[in-house]
Amino acid sequence: MQLSATESASMLPMPRTIVITGASSGIGEALALRYASERARLGLLGRNRERLDRVAAECRRHGAEAHVAAIDVRARSEIRGWLEDFDRATPVDVLIANAGVMAVLGVLNAIHPLLPRMMSRGHGQIGIVGSLAGFIPLPDAPSYCASKSAVLSYGLALRSLLRPHGIGVSVICPGYVTTPMTQQESGWKPFEMSAERAAALICRGLARNRPIIAFPFLLALLSRIGGILPDRGRRWTDVPFRFTVQPHGGGALRSGGAPPDHP
Ligand SMILES: NC(=O)c1ccc[n+]([C@@H]2O[C@H](COP(=O)([O-])OP(=O)(O)OC[C@H]3O[C@@H](n4cnc5c(N)ncnc54)[C@H](OP(=O)(O)O)[C@@H]3O)[C@@H](O)[C@H]2O)c1
Repeated sequence: MQLSATESASMLPMPRTIVITGASSGIGEALALRYASERARLGLLGRNRERLDRVAAECRRHGAEAHVAAIDVRARSEIRGWLEDFDRATPVDVLIANAGVMAVLGVLNAIHPLLPRMMSRGHGQIGIVGSLAGFIPLPDAPSYCASKSAVLSYGLALRSLLRPHGIGVSVICPGYVTTPMTQQESGWKPFEMSAERAAALICRGLARNRPIIAFPFLLALLSRIGGILPDRGRRWTDVPFRFTVQPHGGGALRSGGAPPDHP
């Protein structure tokens, strides 16, 4: 991605130490590999140790220093202990809370342990992975939409709170990205993009300390408009975005009108 001189001047310096939750697959894995090519020091979290080790090995091949921890983001004291130890060894520049589909508490568990430490240093950046589904209520994913609206609101409030402390907060709102998560979904996925492309857009948005990193542009715009439509208007916009989710073993987990929500 080519940048103009003005764009480069307004960007934060490349972070050295980055922690990513949900780094064992999809968007988190692509972010890890992207920062790895900058020879960063990475803390990679997820639940599946085997997949994490595979991602870490690939990051080391790109020249990064990679540390892994198989921790469920819902395990509050475990994640706190690991993050504090990691940050003590090398202060974290960027934390990306990416893990989990409906894991609002998992997002908080990953962020809270580092807040006092970043505040005392007067430096740091936090990326929270939400979704365009945080802007627009989708009939097949009410809980998912609610959790993504919650992290959007939390992230923007946190940004204002932490600004005087020199800490940036960005809420990352992707559209359709090709990952194991979306491979389970069948339905229209307009402007679907690769995880590598999504990672590039996220890294660029974080480097500019954008409040909301929403992409692709047109779908982000439509989602925002869809979110403020009156009920009658939404009945029409809902239709093309209906989808079903296949559990790993096959067979529809839900369809339009069936008991909703993300796995
Ligand atoms: N793909 C899309 O189109 C899309 C669009 C908008 C937003 N998003 C958001 O992007 C984020 C990543 O999604 P993805 O598409 O990359 O999905 P993915 O490929 O399924 O990856 C999810 C990652 O989160 C980890 N994870 C899940 N639950 C966890 C838990 N309780 N504790 C720790 N780690 C956990 C998984 O690792 P383990 O299995 O090893 O735990 C995996 O590394 C999610 O927040 C998702 O809502 C995705």
